Amino acid sequence: MDQKRLVVGNWKMNGTLEETLKLITELRHKLPSDQTDVVIAPPFTSLYSAYVVLQETQIQLAGQNMHWENEGAYTGEISGLFLKEIGCAYVIIGHSERRQYFGETDEWINQKILAALTQELTPIFCLGETLSQRQSGKTEEILEGQLKKGLQGIVMNDLKNIVIAYEPVWAIGTGKTAATTEIQEALRFIRNLLAKNYDAPTANAVRLLYGGSVTAEDAREIFQVKEVNGVLVGGGSLVIDKFLKIIEAREG
Ligand code: PGA
Repeated sequence: MDQKRLVVGNWKMNGTLEETLKLITELRHKLPSDQTDVVIAPPFTSLYSAYVVLQETQIQLAGQNMHWENEGAYTGEISGLFLKEIGCAYVIIGHSERRQYFGETDEWINQKILAALTQELTPIFCLGETLSQRQSGKTEEILEGQLKKGLQGIVMNDLKNIVIAYEPVWAIGTGKTAATTEIQEALRFIRNLLAKNYDAPTANAVRLLYGGSVTAEDAREIFQVKEVNGVLVGGGSLVIDKFLKIIEAREG
């Protein structure tokens, strides 16, 4: 693995401001120095306070979602401009919970990725198949469709600034981590597609993550998968000592 490993904690709709500050303060104090890029995505309401606590540390912040417009009459939405202003470096886009519960389409996701890049936010673009899609042999077709539509209009120079997270929907929050062979196949498929649509050096520069029930116990195995450049962790990131074990897991 050439790039520095990236470990992202997606706290979803968990944590009051007080709880979030407690967790990030603990993380900040216990995190060993800087072999890994660590990113935390707390709820919007805690982002700025988290930013203040995390200044001058290696820990960076991500929004969990954004709108593609900078401002306007979009009640309840948050723009990339706002995320950037309060110190985010990353933004999660197209998480399956957004697709599933909030009706996000590939087209919206594409607009969000483009808008994030304009704000110099690194999009963490999530994609993955459902259980029934996998069982009916459609995994590659689904991944290809999501990837192509999500990256529509993204030029070669911008591709390396995008992180892609393969998150099989059936593995998220279920305790069923994908097998390392399944992770390897999916990430290799994604990387090959990127190489075909752009070029090999650019495809190799893109950080590919796996997400779905990652725990301290299986992180080491996951990091042994050649294509894995990092992980996107939900439940396993909410207890700092467990999250640290994932961050510190070493292959080999
Ligand atoms: P999980 O969530 O680790 O709780 O499965 C991962 C994610 O949703 O990004």
